[in-house]
Amino acid sequence: MSTATLEARSTEAAVQSFTVTFLIRRFDPDVDTEPRWQDFDVEMYATDRVLDALHKIKWEQDGSLTFRRSCAHGICGSDAMRINGRNRLACKTLIKDLDISKPIYVEAIKGLPLEKDLIVDMEPFFASFRDVQPFLVSNSAPEPGKERVQSVAERARFDDTTKCILCAACTSSCPVFWTDGQYFGPAAIVNAHRFIFDSRDDNAQTRLDILNDTEGVWRCRTTFNCTDACPRGIEVTKAIAEVKQAVMRGKP
Ligand code: SF4
Ligand code: FES
Repeated sequence: MSTATLEARSTEAAVQSFTVTFLIRRFDPDVDTEPRWQDFDVEMYATDRVLDALHKIKWEQDGSLTFRRSCAHGICGSDAMRINGRNRLACKTLIKDLDISKPIYVEAIKGLPLEKDLIVDMEPFFASFRDVQPFLVSNSAPEPGKERVQSVAERARFDDTTKCILCAACTSSCPVFWTDGQYFGPAAIVNAHRFIFDSRDDNAQTRLDILNDTEGVWRCRTTFNCTDACPRGIEVTKAIAEVKQAVMRGKP
C-alpha cells in the first residue's frame, strides 16, 4: 500500500463523528390538527450541513419527512427554514457552527401557510414578487445590433439586489409580514429595487406607485431582521430605505 493511501486512511480514521439530536416540527395535514415536534438522532461530521442531516433522516429513518431542496449549494433558494429560531438555508448551515450539546431545532419558515413538515405555500410570496414587475421595461429599442450600454457606476447602483435568490428568508423573518400577510415584504421590495435603479429601465415610477400603497414600503419598521436573515448578504433594509427615498423624491 502506498504512503499516500496509508495517510489518507489514517486521516479518515481520525475524523470524528458525533451523534446530533434534531428536533423537527412535523405536520401532516392528513392526520395532524397541529404541528408536533419529533426528535431524531443522527450521526454527523462537523463539516456536514443541516441539509445532510435531513437527507439522512429521510433516507435512513423516516421517508415521510418532507422538505424542499434542489441545488444543495446556496443558489436555488428552496431550502430556507428556521434553524434554532433563525432563518437560514439548510444547505449553508454547517453542523460545526451550531451548538450540538443541545438539540437542533428545525421548523418551517413563518408567515406563509404550512403545507407539510418543512414546506410552506410560497404562492403569496411569489405573488408579491410578481406584483412589483421584476423585469426590465424600456420604452425604446436598442440600436440595431447594439447592446443597451450601461456604465460601471450605473451597474453598481443596483448590484447588491441582483444577488437575490428568492429564498424568502427575509420576508418570513419580518414581524410585520407575520402579522400582516398583505405586506409586500422585503424580498419583493429588493426585487423592485433591482429594476427601479437600473439606468436602462423606464418603469420605475409604476413600481414606486405600487410600493407607495398601504401594504408597500411604509409598512417596514426597520427591524433589520431581513438583513440579518439574508443568506446572500444583501443589505435588505438599506435597499428598502432607498426605495422609500425614491417614493418620496422620484427615481434619482
Ligand atoms: S433578499 Fe436575501 S433573504 Fe430575501 S429572498 Fe432574496 S436572497 Fe432570500
Ligand atoms: S438547496 Fe438550493 S439554496 Fe439550498
